[in-house]
Amino acid sequence: MLTRWCFLVSIALLCFILNGSFQVEIHVCDSTNSNNSFIYCNGPILDAVNYHALYNDSKEFVDMPMKQDPLEVYNAWLAKFGNSSASSLNKTDVQAFVNQYFSAAGTELVACTPDDWQEKPPKLATILDPQLREWAYKLNAIWKTLCRKIDPTIVQHNSRYSLLYVPHHFIVPGGRFREFYYWDAYWIIKGLIACEMYNTTKSMIRNLATMVDQHGFVPNGGRVYYLQRSQPPLLSAMVYELYEATNDKDFIAELLPTLLKESNFWNQKRTVNVTLNGKEYEVYQYKTPSNVPRPESYRVDTQNSAKLANGADKQQFYQDLASAAESGWDFSTRWFSDYKSLTNIETTKVLPVDLNGLICWNMDIMEYLYEQVGDTTNSQIFRNKRAVFRDTVQNVFYNKTDGTWYDYNLRSQSHNPRFYTSTAVPLFTNCYNTLNTGKSQKVFDYMDKMGVFNYPGGIPSSMSQESSEQWDFPNGWSPNNHMIIEGLRKSANPEMQDKGFLIASKWVMGNFRVFYETGHMWEKYNVIGSYPAPGSGGEYDVQDGFGWTNGAILDLLLTYSDRLFVPENLVNVTTTPTKSPSVETTTKVSYLLNSWIVFLGVLFYELF
Ligand SMILES: *[C@@H]1O[C@H](CO)[C@@H](O)[C@H](O)[C@H]1NC(C)=O
Ligand SMILES: *[C@@H]1O[C@H](CO)[C@@H](O)[C@H](O)[C@H]1NC(C)=O
Ligand SMILES: *[C@@H]1O[C@H](CO)[C@@H](O)[C@H](O)[C@H]1NC(C)=O
Ligand SMILES: *[C@@H]1O[C@H](CO)[C@@H](O)[C@H](O)[C@H]1NC(C)=O
Ligand SMILES: *[C@@H]1O[C@H](CO)[C@@H](O)[C@H](O)[C@H]1NC(C)=O
Ligand SMILES: *[C@@H]1O[C@H](CO)[C@@H](O)[C@H](O)[C@H]1NC(C)=O
Ligand SMILES: *[C@@H]1O[C@H](CO)[C@@H](O)[C@H](O)[C@H]1NC(C)=O
Ligand SMILES: *[C@@H]1O[C@H](CO)[C@@H](O)[C@H](O)[C@H]1NC(C)=O
Repeated sequence: MLTRWCFLVSIALLCFILNGSFQVEIHVCDSTNSNNSFIYCNGPILDAVNYHALYNDSKEFVDMPMKQDPLEVYNAWLAKFGNSSASSLNKTDVQAFVNQYFSAAGTELVACTPDDWQEKPPKLATILDPQLREWAYKLNAIWKTLCRKIDPTIVQHNSRYSLLYVPHHFIVPGGRFREFYYWDAYWIIKGLIACEMYNTTKSMIRNLATMVDQHGFVPNGGRVYYLQRSQPPLLSAMVYELYEATNDKDFIAELLPTLLKESNFWNQKRTVNVTLNGKEYEVYQYKTPSNVPRPESYRVDTQNSAKLANGADKQQFYQDLASAAESGWDFSTRWFSDYKSLTNIETTKVLPVDLNGLICWNMDIMEYLYEQVGDTTNSQIFRNKRAVFRDTVQNVFYNKTDGTWYDYNLRSQSHNPRFYTSTAVPLFTNCYNTLNTGKSQKVFDYMDKMGVFNYPGGIPSSMSQESSEQWDFPNGWSPNNHMIIEGLRKSANPEMQDKGFLIASKWVMGNFRVFYETGHMWEKYNVIGSYPAPGSGGEYDVQDGFGWTNGAILDLLLTYSDRLFVPENLVNVTTTPTKSPSVETTTKVSYLLNSWIVFLGVLFYELF
């Protein structure tokens, strides 16, 4: 009898374990990499602040410095509230506690003026159209408002801050993104190079390098709660772009060991083997180990997990959310098994074509940089790796019939046949046989067939309209529009180069018009309607500033300095007085504008 009972219990336990419910929690930061994880990455204070919704944006609280050391704050909490659950606490009391022990978000960052900033960078003077040149100068001026450095006095009390200390000044994206961000920095740097701010570029690269040296990789952004995830790997591309502009070999030599270390991170922590047609390929994935709510999105993550079906694996859900955040595409139908709903997210089942396209570029860049400093051995190693990997990208992600690359799904063992701007990344990174000039034409024809060029404001992230996620229709984003334009421009096919220019004109003039209409550059744009508006959707309000938007535009204005002109119907846009509303009213204005544009867009759709 007892034996039978034991047998049943063991079976139940085994099922429990096999079911995956028996997993350890992996926090986004812990005692191995921070001294304040029990304040900013987990624990009763984080829980209570979010339970009572002290702030609309969960990021607010985790960006607030502490007035005392973390253990003192924690003990004060216990003394006041004991171990009561968040739900049994009084919101007013929780707010009073936070007010007493924390100061305002972001106060550890100080504004700065980059020492290499100049009012009229000579390169921008080559922009022929006077209105576009004037605009470029205005964008150049925004660098001064986005420059930050970390108050050096915080070093002595590092544990009182969620901020990751970096020694040099840097450019932030803007809005709620008040610290450094990883992949944003690539487009920011493109813009800084256009403005000849090479010192600031170096500072930003060196900051990211300190992260690799300390943590083995570049975290998503400059906060402890980003210590389990990275972002699209573009550090070597930043070094490459700076080298192309300055020819500074010493700087490459300084950075190469760091770049190698970063590439090891992706090789060791973000690969998976997949067998296709009897052949095994090693490919890369966005896959953070953390499996708890993201502190900066704690409330919305817990609310969403409550919508999961009974018995669903919450830890898996949190891991998939954070892994999508690692991709930079948080969120998009591209990660959802039904292309509709966030609760069906399965990022860790997806082999993302953009990441693999970028890794391929990293190999190419490493080969080149080693060659530039005379290290032929390492250069050869990366040449060989890249030759193999280019075939991998072709075999795993490319569909010959459709003439494009797609994400590959491990669960369905098939491509995701939908259009996302990410599918064109291998074109941008030259991860194909460049003698094959028909390839760029095919990618273009595919996108044309999908209708992605039909919008006046640029290319939308996807054509998926079933979600209101920010990386879907109708939002268009700078990095992706820029990568598609550059992919076509750098292809060896003259016809495609012209197409690249036409897309650039759309993107640039859309941004131009919205700038003079709203007084701001935005994080993303709604590309449909009679002309674009700031984007919307997703988890937070659209942000202004905006680092990568400005960078992509400055780069394009310079690339096409003798070809881009303000069209006749827009010449008066800059002379009508710019509204310079406060941030709040801007959001309202953009919201109204946006609803109107969406309405127009929908009408357009219904009619045609
Ligand atoms: C935590 O603080 C101790 C003592 O100040 C320090 O030695 C240690 O390096 C810190 N750990 C981390 C991960 O910052
Ligand atoms: C928080 O959001 C609510 C509802 O959207 C809004 O009414 C309120 O003003 C917001 N509060 C803050 C501090 O932004
Ligand atoms: C709270 O702490 C007390 C004393 O340490 C303990 O008896 C009690 O079980 C705890 N309650 C909870 C909900 O953990
Ligand atoms: C919360 O506490 C404050 C004082 O600390 C009190 O005035 C208020 O009535 C309490 N609210 C609730 C809902 O208990
Ligand atoms: C750039 O940095 C170098 C070395 O730190 C310095 O000598 C130079 O003055 C800086 N240039 C500008 C324009 O600030
Ligand atoms: C993939 O396969 C290679 C060669 O068999 C092996 O060295 C590597 O460790 C495997 N990678 C993973 C993530 O399993
Ligand atoms: C490629 O796309 C075509 C048409 O969409 C489809 O029929 C075919 O099965 C795809 N091939 C692969 C290998 O996925
Ligand atoms: C632009 O403004 C000028 C002067 O006000 C006017 O003559 C011209 O017709 C306007 N052009 C357009 C396209 O609106």
